[in-house]
Amino acid sequence: MDFKISSFITPSMIIRLYILLSAAVSSKAVPEVACNRIKIGENWYDRDTLWGNIGRPYNLNVHRGSNSLFFSYSLPETYSDVDFQLAYFNIDSREYQTIAGIRGGCSVAIDQMNDDIYLGGSDGIYKYNMLTKLADFYKEKGKNIWSLFFKKNLFYISYPDQKLHIEFDGKFATVKEFENFEIDYFHVSSANVIYFANKTGLYKYDNDKMVAQVVNELITVRQIVEDNEGDTYIVSNFGVFADGKFEGLKKILDMKNIYGLAFDKDNNFIYSDEKNIIKLEYSVVGCDKKHVHW
Ligand SMILES: *[C@@H]1O[C@H](CO)[C@@H](O)[C@H](O)[C@H]1NC(C)=O
Repeated sequence: MDFKISSFITPSMIIRLYILLSAAVSSKAVPEVACNRIKIGENWYDRDTLWGNIGRPYNLNVHRGSNSLFFSYSLPETYSDVDFQLAYFNIDSREYQTIAGIRGGCSVAIDQMNDDIYLGGSDGIYKYNMLTKLADFYKEKGKNIWSLFFKKNLFYISYPDQKLHIEFDGKFATVKEFENFEIDYFHVSSANVIYFANKTGLYKYDNDKMVAQVVNELITVRQIVEDNEGDTYIVSNFGVFADGKFEGLKKILDMKNIYGLAFDKDNNFIYSDEKNIIKLEYSVVGCDKKHVHW
C-alpha cells in the first residue's frame, strides 16, 4: 500500500508543528537541561571523555612529542592498591594499550627533551620503548617504586619507607635533605620551586635556608603537575589548586574527586575522576548557574 504522510497532515497540525519548531529554535536562549561544561577560573570547558569506566586512573603524564597520556589504574572491581597497571592513550589517534610486563606498575616520569618515558612498579624502574611498545627493564631491581619524577635527573620515591632517591652518575642515592621524613610526592617547577607532599601536608623546600615551609597541612595531595606555561597545579582531596607565577596558591576547581591531572601538547587539561579520563576543551559558551554540574 502506498503511504503518504502528507495526506494525514491537516492545516491545524501544520500550525502546531510550526509552533513546536519555533519553540525549539527560540529555546536556544533557555539554559540546557543538563549542562556538561565545567568552569575553571573565568573560562568554560566542554568535557570529552577519553577513556571511561576504568578503575581509578592516577599519575597522569603526557609525553608531548607523541601527545600520549601515560597513567596507572586498577581493575574497577578490585580497587586494590597492589593491583596497579600502566597504560597509554594517544590523544590524537585515540589508540590505547595497557603496558605489559611491569608488576604493580604505578608510576610515570617523562624526560620530554630526550623522549625518555620511565615507568615504575613493585620491582624497579623500566623505560618504555615507543617502537616496540614494550617496557625494558632500566634500574633498581627489587625496589618498590612508589613515584617517579624527572627534572635534569631522574628521581624516585621508594615504598613503603617513602624516601626520595636521585640518579647521579648512573647510580641512585637517597636525597640527604629529605632523609628524616617521608615524601609521597616530589616536584620541581621550571622556576625551580621545590614542592613535596606527605601524609602531613604540602610543603615547599627553601634550598638556600635548607628548611621546609608549610604550604597547606589540611590537604592530601594526589598529584603535583606543571602545565606547558610553567604554572604548577596541586591535585588534592579539597580540589585543584594552581600556584601561578604571580598570584600564589589559589583554588581553581572545587571538585573533590579529581585524582590526576596532566596537560596535553596544546595545554588542554586532562584529568581523571574515579572512573574516567576527561579532556577539557575551551568553550565560548558556558552554563546557566543552576545547571552547573557539581
Ligand atoms: C612531612 O614533611 C614535614 C616537613 O618536612 C615534616 O615535618 C613531617 O614530619 C613529614 N611527615 C611525615 C609523615 O613524615
